[in-house]
Amino acid sequence: MAVQFHSLAVKRVSPEAAGSVAITFAIPKEKKSDFDFAPGQFLTLKATVDGQSVRRTYSISSPRSRFEFDNELEIGIRPVQGGLFSNWAVRSLKEGDQIEVMPPDGRFTVKKQRAIHRVGFAAGSGITPILSIAATTLEDQPDSKFTLVYGNRQMSTVMFNEALQDLKDQFPQRLTLIHVLSRQAQEVDLLQGRIDGPKVHAMVKALLPAASMDEVFICGPESMILATQAALIAAGVPESRVYTERFTSGAAQAAKVQSDTDARVTKSISQKPVALTVQVDGKGHELRMGRDEKVLDAALSLGLDLPYSCKAGVCCTCRAKVLEGSVEMDKNFTLEKDEMDQGYVLSCQARPISDHLVISFDER
Ligand code: FES
Repeated sequence: MAVQFHSLAVKRVSPEAAGSVAITFAIPKEKKSDFDFAPGQFLTLKATVDGQSVRRTYSISSPRSRFEFDNELEIGIRPVQGGLFSNWAVRSLKEGDQIEVMPPDGRFTVKKQRAIHRVGFAAGSGITPILSIAATTLEDQPDSKFTLVYGNRQMSTVMFNEALQDLKDQFPQRLTLIHVLSRQAQEVDLLQGRIDGPKVHAMVKALLPAASMDEVFICGPESMILATQAALIAAGVPESRVYTERFTSGAAQAAKVQSDTDARVTKSISQKPVALTVQVDGKGHELRMGRDEKVLDAALSLGLDLPYSCKAGVCCTCRAKVLEGSVEMDKNFTLEKDEMDQGYVLSCQARPISDHLVISFDER
């Protein structure tokens, strides 16, 4: 299926801590079904920055209620060092601008329709999807509780602090907010430092019995995610209840400045090319590709309008199905084993290992 970007109007730009912004899009009534979302999902934005067409994903921070009643979706953008898109967005986007946005996507969502106690572990801008999950949980389920463990350097860099305080005022009994600060003195040792394995272990012991957690959401830098996940599982939280969402670091983003037109990869001349057929919108497109090339890059070189965003194996937007032949993936942070068993791959990470390959973007 070819990509569907929609032009959305920026309704509001609100400053957040440490140079971040919250950007609210107005969703026209006729596009509401396209932009219906599950808390925890992200939007892919596309813009031309410094002459390059760039795409980036940003998690939705607003709860379902704002979508349903106010026809709006909010994302949070924190500028990252060397980040082409984030710095442009923070500097340039203003109320009334139009920007190309792909409908919501992503799997970092609640799986149990009802849960008594959901828990979030967030670091920095990793709060964005967890804020949406927490607010929606508390609003929709009067008998639910949410515990948020949120790591930052100091209180002045806490993103969405006002929204969190409002939520706490609204649900004082049901929301537990735990700030862990690495560069600001805290009265309690447990709240001082970074969210890492020993810290999570100590929190589970002191405040968060493993059996009380129905679903756990972790979002932050990779090292924090891995340490938190491992500590929770070691403490007895079933792995199936722990969900993670990675975001790419500033350095990685800077290194990955990519455009829609950068798909022209030098083809290997020393190896026999692969016959690739790309199926999209019911049509087959044939080309020859090098064995070192990634399938998505090769397919984009045909000028096809294909879904992708991070090109780093994280977002799953580029998922496609191998119908004939085989590939291997460089990285995969998102596809489950059963999906891979069915032939699904991340086309941005897939390199051919057969002479002939047929891949479909219609079966996603
Ligand atoms: S584009 Fe994000 S995983 Fe491929």
